[in-house]
Amino acid sequence: MILVTGATGHLGNTAIQSLLKKGVPAHEITALVRDEKKAANLSEQGVQLKTGNYNDYNSIVDALEGVDKLFLISSNDVAADTLLQHKNVINAAKENGVQHIVYISQEIKDDETTAIPFVIQVHRGTAEYLKKTGIAFTIFNDTLYADSIGKFAGEGFLENGIFFPAGDGKVPFIPRTDIGEAAAVVLTTPGHEYKTYAITGNNAYSFEDIAGMLSDITGKKVKYLNPDLDTYAEALGKAGVPKEVVGFLSAFATAIRNGEFDTNRSDLENLLGRKPMELKEFLKITYGK
Ligand SMILES: NC(=O)c1ccc[n+]([C@@H]2O[C@H](COP(=O)([O-])OP(=O)(O)OC[C@H]3O[C@@H](n4cnc5c(N)ncnc54)[C@H](OP(=O)(O)O)[C@@H]3O)[C@@H](O)[C@H]2O)c1
Repeated sequence: MILVTGATGHLGNTAIQSLLKKGVPAHEITALVRDEKKAANLSEQGVQLKTGNYNDYNSIVDALEGVDKLFLISSNDVAADTLLQHKNVINAAKENGVQHIVYISQEIKDDETTAIPFVIQVHRGTAEYLKKTGIAFTIFNDTLYADSIGKFAGEGFLENGIFFPAGDGKVPFIPRTDIGEAAAVVLTTPGHEYKTYAITGNNAYSFEDIAGMLSDITGKKVKYLNPDLDTYAEALGKAGVPKEVVGFLSAFATAIRNGEFDTNRSDLENLLGRKPMELKEFLKITYGK
C-alpha cells in the first residue's frame, strides 16, 4: 500500500494520477486528506481515503496502518510548526513499520547563505530526522514550481507586466506534473532508497526570459518590470498584501536574484526516462489561448 499525503493539493493529486497511469491498482493507493469532501475525484477513481492532520499524531498513526511506502508532501501551513508536523508523520510511519518514505524538499545552492532559511531549515531538519529513523528514504530536492510563476509575477501580469524583484537570476523551473510522475517512478521501481535527487529542469530561465516567452505565446508584449526590493514591498503593502506574504515573496525574489536556484544539477531526466517539460511548453499550456 502506498499512502500519499497532501492528496487534495496539487502535487499529491498529480502523483496519484501518475501512480494510476503506471498501473498501480487504485485500491493499493491511500490518499491522506484533511477534508474528504475535497477528494471526490479520488474516491470516484477507487483510491482509498483516510482523514488525518499532521498536527494530530493519532490520526496519522491510524492512516498509516498497513502502509509500505509513504509519499510525504511537505506542509504548506505557514502558521504551524511544520518541522514538528513532519516529525509527527515520520514517527507515525516508524510506529507502523513503513518501509520507504519519499519526502519533498528544496533544491538550493548553499544552505548556509540562503535568503530563504525559514524554508531550508525545516526541510533539512526533516531530512536529518528521517535519516536517523533508519527507514529507507528518497529526498526530492525540488526547484521552484513553474506553477508558482503566476504567483510571483503579480496581479494581471500579462497586461501590467511582471512585477517581481528577481533581477536576472535564473531558475530551472519545473511543472508539478513532472515531479508527480518522478515520484510515481520512485514509488514503483527499485533502486531509489537512501538517495537524494535534484528535481529541476534541464535549463534555467530569468523573468526577462519568461516575459519574452509570454510575449511570443500571447502575441502581446509582456514586460518584465524589475523593481528594487523597497519599491516592491511598498507597492504590495499599498495593495493590502499582508506583511508576512510580502516578506515571503521578497525573500524568494532575493534568492532567485542571487542565483540560488541555478544549481546546475538534475536527476529528473534520468528518473522520467525522457526530457522534463520545457518552460515555454508549460507557459503555452497555461497561458496560451
Ligand atoms: N518548490 C516550490 O516551488 C514549491 C512551491 C509551492 C509549494 N512547495 C511545497 O510543496 C508542497 C506541495 O505543493 P502543492 O503545490 O501541492 O501545495 P498545495 O496544493 O497547497 O497542497 C498542500 C497540501 O498539504 C496539505 N496540508 C497542509 N497542512 C496540512 C496538515 N496540517 N495536515 C495534513 N495535510 C496538510 C493540504 O491540505 P488541504 O488540501 O486540506 O489544504 C494540501 O493538500 C507544499 O506544501 C510546499 O511545502 C514548493
